[in-house]
Amino acid sequence: MLTINFHPFQNIETERLLLRRLNENDADEVLALRSNPETMKYIPRPLAKNREDALGHINMIEEKIVTNTGINWGITLKGEPKIIGIIGHYKVSPENHRAEIGYMSFPEVNGKGYMSEAIKAVVAYGFEQMNLHSIEAIIDPDNIGSERVLQKNGFVKEAHILENELWEGRFLDTVIYSLLKRNWKK
Ligand SMILES: CC(C)(COP(=O)(O)OP(=O)(O)OC[C@H]1O[C@@H](n2cnc3c(N)ncnc32)[C@H](O)[C@@H]1OP(=O)(O)O)[C@@H](O)C(=O)NCCC(=O)NCCS
Repeated sequence: MLTINFHPFQNIETERLLLRRLNENDADEVLALRSNPETMKYIPRPLAKNREDALGHINMIEEKIVTNTGINWGITLKGEPKIIGIIGHYKVSPENHRAEIGYMSFPEVNGKGYMSEAIKAVVAYGFEQMNLHSIEAIIDPDNIGSERVLQKNGFVKEAHILENELWEGRFLDTVIYSLLKRNWKK
């Protein structure tokens, strides 16, 4: 079994971004991200309705860090304190040395390569700091932007599962992308 230890918490710096720990001051941005039907279109989770929901999300993320069961960062542009998105290893499976990444950002900042840059850094953290063997992402087949950022980072499509998730009365397909450490090109 892989031992996961997120302490001390590491910020991650890339060319244009600083990935940092979320805190309660990020509640407004987290609410904006998680209450927006556009950003949540392909994420089958309830829309956040108020500040309490946003704080609950931040606390859930914090709890996972504290218990070494998952890690997420707020994505910021260097020199600007407010987050433009969230990314992380949402679910970790230490027995399989594997984790699932998830990510989201505001539509206004999409298409500038920020998420590709963030994924690259979070994948490197997963393989180098967490010592993962593989990383997966589970996406909606219609989420072309998400598919694209994964492909740009070397992930390969491994499965398209038909109607395996029941969400709001509809059975949704899911697509699984993954990357093995040995196929990772740093
Ligand atoms: C998916 C998402 C993270 C992409 O973020 P981003 O900052 O736009 O990503 P990048 O700029 O790094 O790259 C996006 C790529 O997808 C392409 N793309 C985006 N939407 C597209 C579409 N509808 N059709 C074709 N290509 C598309 C862009 O052209 C770009 O590719 P390129 O660099 O080859 O031109 C962002 O749109 C998002 O947060 N969406 C809402 C939340 C979400 O769905 N998260 C993923 C859940 S699994």
